[in-house]
Amino acid sequence: MGSAIWSLLLVVFIQIYIVAPTTDFGDSTALKSLVAEWENVPPSWVGGDPCGDGWVGISCTDSRVTSIILPSMNLVGRLSGDISTLSELQQTSMFRDLSYNQGLTGSLPASIGNLKNLTNLILVGCGFNGPIPDSIGSLSQLRFLSLNSNGFTGRIPPSIGNLSNLVWLDLADNHLEGPIPVSNGSTPGLDMLIHTKHFHFGKNKLSGQIPFQLFSSDMTLIHLLFESNELTGSLPSTLGLVQTLEVVRFDNNSLNGHLPLNLNNLSRVQYLFLSNNKLTGPLPDLTGMNSLNTLYLGNNSFDLADVPSWFRALRALTTLRMEHTQLRGQVPASIFELPNLQTVVLKGNQLNGTLEIGPSFSNQLKTIDLQYNSITGFDDGRRSYKFDIILVDNPVCTATETRSTYCKLPQSNSGPLYSTPPSKNCLPVSCSSDQISSPTCKCAHPYTGTLLFGGISFSDFRTSTPYEILKRQLMQFFQSHQLPVDSVSLSDPRMDLFEYHLLDLAVFPYGQSSFNRTGIFMIAFVLSNPTFRAPRELFGPYTFIGDNYEHFSDEPANSKKSSIAIKIGAAAGASLLLLLLVLAGTYAYRQKKRAERATKESNPFAHWDSKKSSGSIPQLKGARCFSFEELKKYTNNFSEANDIGSGSYGKVYKGTLPTGELIAIKRAQQGSVQGGLEFKTEIELLSRVHHKNVVSLLGFCFERGEQMLIYEYVPNGSLSDSLSGKSGIRMDWTRRLKIALGAARGLAYLHKLANPPIIHRDIKSSNILLDERLNAKVADFGLSKPMGDSERGHVTTQVKGTMGYLDPEYFMTQQLTEKSDVYSFGVLMLEIVTARKPIERGKYIVREVRLAMDKTKSLYNLQEILDASIGFAATPKGLEMFVDLAMSCVEESGADRPTMSEVVKEIENIMQLAGMNPNVESASSSATYEEATKGGSLHPYSDDSSAYSGAFPAPR
Ligand SMILES: *[C@@H]1O[C@H](CO)[C@@H](O)[C@H](O)[C@H]1NC(C)=O
Ligand SMILES: *[C@@H]1O[C@H](CO)[C@@H](O)[C@H](O)[C@H]1NC(C)=O
Ligand SMILES: *[C@@H]1O[C@H](CO)[C@@H](O)[C@H](O)[C@H]1NC(C)=O
Ligand SMILES: *[C@@H]1O[C@H](CO)[C@@H](O)[C@H](O)[C@H]1NC(C)=O
Repeated sequence: MGSAIWSLLLVVFIQIYIVAPTTDFGDSTALKSLVAEWENVPPSWVGGDPCGDGWVGISCTDSRVTSIILPSMNLVGRLSGDISTLSELQQTSMFRDLSYNQGLTGSLPASIGNLKNLTNLILVGCGFNGPIPDSIGSLSQLRFLSLNSNGFTGRIPPSIGNLSNLVWLDLADNHLEGPIPVSNGSTPGLDMLIHTKHFHFGKNKLSGQIPFQLFSSDMTLIHLLFESNELTGSLPSTLGLVQTLEVVRFDNNSLNGHLPLNLNNLSRVQYLFLSNNKLTGPLPDLTGMNSLNTLYLGNNSFDLADVPSWFRALRALTTLRMEHTQLRGQVPASIFELPNLQTVVLKGNQLNGTLEIGPSFSNQLKTIDLQYNSITGFDDGRRSYKFDIILVDNPVCTATETRSTYCKLPQSNSGPLYSTPPSKNCLPVSCSSDQISSPTCKCAHPYTGTLLFGGISFSDFRTSTPYEILKRQLMQFFQSHQLPVDSVSLSDPRMDLFEYHLLDLAVFPYGQSSFNRTGIFMIAFVLSNPTFRAPRELFGPYTFIGDNYEHFSDEPANSKKSSIAIKIGAAAGASLLLLLLVLAGTYAYRQKKRAERATKESNPFAHWDSKKSSGSIPQLKGARCFSFEELKKYTNNFSEANDIGSGSYGKVYKGTLPTGELIAIKRAQQGSVQGGLEFKTEIELLSRVHHKNVVSLLGFCFERGEQMLIYEYVPNGSLSDSLSGKSGIRMDWTRRLKIALGAARGLAYLHKLANPPIIHRDIKSSNILLDERLNAKVADFGLSKPMGDSERGHVTTQVKGTMGYLDPEYFMTQQLTEKSDVYSFGVLMLEIVTARKPIERGKYIVREVRLAMDKTKSLYNLQEILDASIGFAATPKGLEMFVDLAMSCVEESGADRPTMSEVVKEIENIMQLAGMNPNVESASSSATYEEATKGGSLHPYSDDSSAYSGAFPAPR
């Protein structure tokens, strides 16, 4: 009986499920016309019915579209006024990566005001511009309004004041200008938003005074963020009435006048940022701000007599910054007794007398920075302190005590920045080019993005505890909501110019190597949802800016949906574009199949002649075709003794031609043979390049399913073997410079003089070979791309390359330019001076150098990172310039990097300044490493006393 009812219910349920889906005609039409203006829409959207066919990101209730949530989907296009037809819409959320400037652009249509049922309007990090329409004030149900990180201009619409249900108002990081609107009889204003908890207006151009009407005791604000605007006048005393406040930021404005005396009513405020203004007068007694954790008052013109004694009442204080605030007199020792105190920055004041820290100082202390004061003595009380005390540029340091540690700037990098370590139960794995090893040591495509916090509760990015807690909370949240997350990693905590605390987040998929679209959708939604509290509780207000995700597990590259797509496309009237896409897809697929077939045939040359396959016979200049039998003979039947190296592509054999000339044969192993077309392209490309710093191709073999490339033999192996010491070649500074110059010349030739120009795409130390005179030769063109004239400087391509050398800009935009090679070359240069692999034990060389680098010190303070075998007894001439050059090659933006021709010039310049002649041909010796080792003698390159070494002028 009971079960009968259940099955009945089930039937009814299923029927509803089947019957209900047809989307309301108006909604369906509106959505389709919205989407018609977008690119990169999810593939599921080609299905005809948004509700019925389950368009990802679209939710429906009773056939009406009620929400559109599209996080990190790389949408491109405009938001048309058609959105207003979706009259039952309750939520619209779209998020995009900040770093691209395309995306959803144009203005927000005024008709958005018709969406009377809208509760959430979240358009974060898209490319919207133009004014925020006044009609937004008619969205009377609106609870969350986040338009942050777009390009909105004009004023804050006063009508927002009419949104009486608003909980969250975020307009930060736009170009908004003009005054803060407040109500006056006829017009509404922000002061009316008494239920709103969040005012986020930072990083705009708001100007004028802060109206005293803005605040009242009716308000329930928690976060009040107006930092980095152009506000003037004084802080109104009404601010002291908003007792719910927890975060107050007015830093980086032009506020002047005295601070209101009732500021200390704000007993819940944890973060108070008023730095970088023109505030004057005395500092009001803040006793009573019992929650105050972080106080930034620096760079103001206060009229202060002494360090205020009431500071010791602020028991919760961890960070106090009052640099350049005209403080005078002696630093009271009592201040250091605050139990949670970590950082005190009072530099650039007129503090005098003797510094005393006293016996009961906070055991949390990390830094006391008192640079540029008038302190004449330091009484250490015969204690040694584990934290940094900085008294540089005080009389105490200019007198006798210059040797004391407190008279030196501390090593800013006393440890690595926090980065989630791999779990203790596993060893990190090395992953193929575009995957990343997760904290649980699995290769995967994580979903990444940046967490951006508006307040900082602690100042040491090296301590792990807060990050570990955040990581655990994120993980717990994902798990409790059954999101398919395996692990989470946090890294690279840093501060930006606006005193924001940035943190990179990577979320790894559970059970597979990438997320499907639904997974990304859910994670991005949670992280971008303003109500997700965990990060906020730890670090204050935050925004999550997700990167675009491009590895959806449910969307293989070639289109399975082609037949549906044709049908729907034709119906929707967008048939031409879709048809073209489908045809292109099918064509590529057929090409691939043919290529596969071709390699199986015993004589693929036939196909090169034919119309069917890879086009005409290869156009070769100077390279010849070898038969398999020939090569077998030259390599002693591909014997093990002739095997001189291997890689993912296969093996390299050494061979001897009947003339005695040595050759190197790169033989693709089964499984890594490429299609005939690609093979032909590579041969054609290579046969056209002739330069002494590029390995030259002598010929090829394409027979019996084999693909072999025959190169000149380069006797001294790769640069990476030399740097690691494996080849026994002594790498002094002169040699390193010469090798860098040779490799740079080879690459510059490929970029500028080869016809067509070539982007190598895999510059790394194992692809730089050294000949018998240690001339560098660029090798391995397996990933290279020719640059057609039509492609205006870049090729859009699937990202390939080697992790560690890979240009991050190329990685993100997929647009390959010659500057991607420049990036890899910069990494190579760092490798040349450090002899470290680009990523060694989880440390990325570019970041390591950047962190350790201090231009005021000799060798830029890099001694610990540099390869000791360069020899520092005599300072290597030009090493700093070399590092400068390398760092310019690894600039974030390709446009900021030099060209390879400029790199060549600069290395030549460095060599000349170091007293070397960049154009001297190396020695005439033909001795090779092999001959030397075979003979049991010392390697000619391993000892300066050998005849050979004279070839390089010694550094003077
Ligand atoms: C949307 O608003 C209309 C009135 O404008 C109302 O009748 C309807 O019930 C609302 N829909 C929902 C789902 O709240
Ligand atoms: C704000 O609301 C009031 C009362 O509901 C209305 O009279 C006024 O026109 C609205 N103002 C704007 C700018 O929407
Ligand atoms: C320190 O400065 C204060 C105020 O400028 C001054 O009154 C006092 O005499 C100075 N003390 C010493 C030891 O120089
Ligand atoms: C996406 O992934 C989730 C969790 O891994 C899974 O439950 C769901 O069925 C997947 N959806 C599709 C369309 O593959």
